Amino acid sequence: MEFLDLPALHHAAGVVRLPGSKSISNRTLLLAALAEGRTEIHDLLDSDDTQVMLAALKTLGVQVEPLGRDSYAVSGVGGAFPVKQAELFLGNAGTAFRPLTAALALSGGTYTLDGVARMHERPIGDLVDGLRQIGVHVEYLRNDGFPPLKLAPSDVSLMAPIKVRGDVSSQFLTALLMALPLTGKTAQIEVVGELISKPYIEITLNLMARFGVKVERGVENEGWSHFTIHAGKYTSPGSIHVEGDASSASYFLAAGAIAGGPVRVEGVGSTSIQGDVRFAEALIAIGAEVSYGDNWIECAAPVGRKLSAFDADFNHIPDAAMTLAVAALFADGPCTLRNIASWRVKETDRIFAMAKELRKVGAEVDEGADYLKVTPPVAFVPGAAIDTYDDHRMAMCLSLATFGGVPVRINDPRCVGKTFPEYFDAFARVAAPVIAIDGPSASGKGTVAARVAAKLGFHYLDSGALYRLTALAAENKGVSWDDEAGVAAVAAQLPAEFEGERILLAGIDVSDAIRTEHMGIGASRVAALPAVRTALLERQRAYQRFPGLVGDGRDLGSVIFPWARTKVFLTATAEARAERRYKQLIAKGMSANIAVLLEDLQARDARDSARSVAPLKQGEDAVLVDTTPLSIEQAVQAVLDAYARNENPADV
Ligand code: DC
Repeated sequence: MEFLDLPALHHAAGVVRLPGSKSISNRTLLLAALAEGRTEIHDLLDSDDTQVMLAALKTLGVQVEPLGRDSYAVSGVGGAFPVKQAELFLGNAGTAFRPLTAALALSGGTYTLDGVARMHERPIGDLVDGLRQIGVHVEYLRNDGFPPLKLAPSDVSLMAPIKVRGDVSSQFLTALLMALPLTGKTAQIEVVGELISKPYIEITLNLMARFGVKVERGVENEGWSHFTIHAGKYTSPGSIHVEGDASSASYFLAAGAIAGGPVRVEGVGSTSIQGDVRFAEALIAIGAEVSYGDNWIECAAPVGRKLSAFDADFNHIPDAAMTLAVAALFADGPCTLRNIASWRVKETDRIFAMAKELRKVGAEVDEGADYLKVTPPVAFVPGAAIDTYDDHRMAMCLSLATFGGVPVRINDPRCVGKTFPEYFDAFARVAAPVIAIDGPSASGKGTVAARVAAKLGFHYLDSGALYRLTALAAENKGVSWDDEAGVAAVAAQLPAEFEGERILLAGIDVSDAIRTEHMGIGASRVAALPAVRTALLERQRAYQRFPGLVGDGRDLGSVIFPWARTKVFLTATAEARAERRYKQLIAKGMSANIAVLLEDLQARDARDSARSVAPLKQGEDAVLVDTTPLSIEQAVQAVLDAYARNENPADV
């Protein structure tokens, strides 16, 4: 089986841009398909579940046109689906299966809906019962109450309110709410029993309203038992932006709460329509420091103490609550999650799965029909092999166990593709350790950085090489080094690859070509252009990967990785640097004059320190290592020592 080995981790900090919300993406796709008019959907989640929905809509005769990255134009069919006969395979996507069942039931055709083996175990009886009440012909093709299903054309009658149970999955109610406008008549729904996961119904009603259909809620049970869907057609709002996924946000916010922080997620905030943003309130309740903007949430750990133990009801945030089960590993006492029975009918039996995997890292866990009690480990067990049960959230949740200071193996890590294909890259961007080294020209920072990386088995980023490559690529294309927009465009598309010692530009080895004095001057010129620095920012950040990164360059510790825990300013007297360079040149059989070298270096130091864009200076939070009296080995050791001090969990 495929696996991913995550290293022992101690700290998390940084910024993550969230992928689009799964719940909003799949609802929006369906509503846009049923609506009159064309809808441009932006920031749609690109994942297994949304691909399933997109493919199904195309099969059903809906035109979907890609508009570039994560954007689509959906030409709505203005009512029932035009294709009247289809066999759909919907994987394990509940957010596609349930709403499509209801919408197809009212489309007047013959359809079969099937999915993976786990889908055959996920209940759908309450939805089928609801549909049968209004005259829909539904047949179970395997076991009563479960997919696969067959739907046949039916005469629908809306005489009495449709009764539907709300205590197994709120998706049944969502499916009915979204489909009933296809009847063209006013319809009523009565929820029988306690409605779970209410915030997901809020998302449904909110999006239906965006597409022009109003739903009125009765007054009983705080408005959660009676719904009137007014006759009316869905009409396209024109363009719609999908919020970031609040459930996906939970892993990063929890990382901040557990391992220092601050960690900021972008894409959800105080104006979000997703119930799972209330996960942040649960973190506040256990002591984390949380702050909000319209479109971001940030979380840091309590200072000087652990997260507080908790005993609470999490019915309103069933998915994000899984993350709290893992946060419980880091609390100051046993924690109980209550009213979470719906976990048992999700992608896997999540209560069973969570209990089993948390035990592997050393926790004591009690499991009940609808609760989980987690007692934090006395000591985390290193190297646990975590099974993920084809459940994306199991994989993402258990990655946080690494903050126990132990390596963790995640089996079948690709299951995160259901909602967050880039999860582990994003996790590395807040959790993989970074050592940022700066210093004046010829201080030996490149040599030291490369050796520290080799010793730790970390990745190495030579940021100066990126500026040199940009200068070379610009020159090759005839773009002047002073043309800020032109050079920035070159930098944004830089076809550079680092292959061990070799550096390639468009497939050609340029390792020597970028080291000339001429390209040094070019690099220094293009590095002074703000648009070029911005163009290279994301590219440099993408180097933050497991197990860690050592980078050298001007603004690595201040702009690129301000959250780096180990920042080193490597320096030496100008005389010592001139002498080193002199020896290097002589060793290469080149002629050199030490006095001229010293003069050049001093002039360059002055220029570098005086320039307005990213000037050379020791950061306030950087450790000064004066290498004048040190050998390279000693300088490497000094950096390793600084890293060991900073990573020591006793400092948290
Ligand atoms: O380290 P180096 O000599 O390869 O750097 C080439 C030029 O790029 C030098 O003028 C400094 C500049 N540079 C920068 O401005 N910011 C960085 N992060 C790295 C290099």
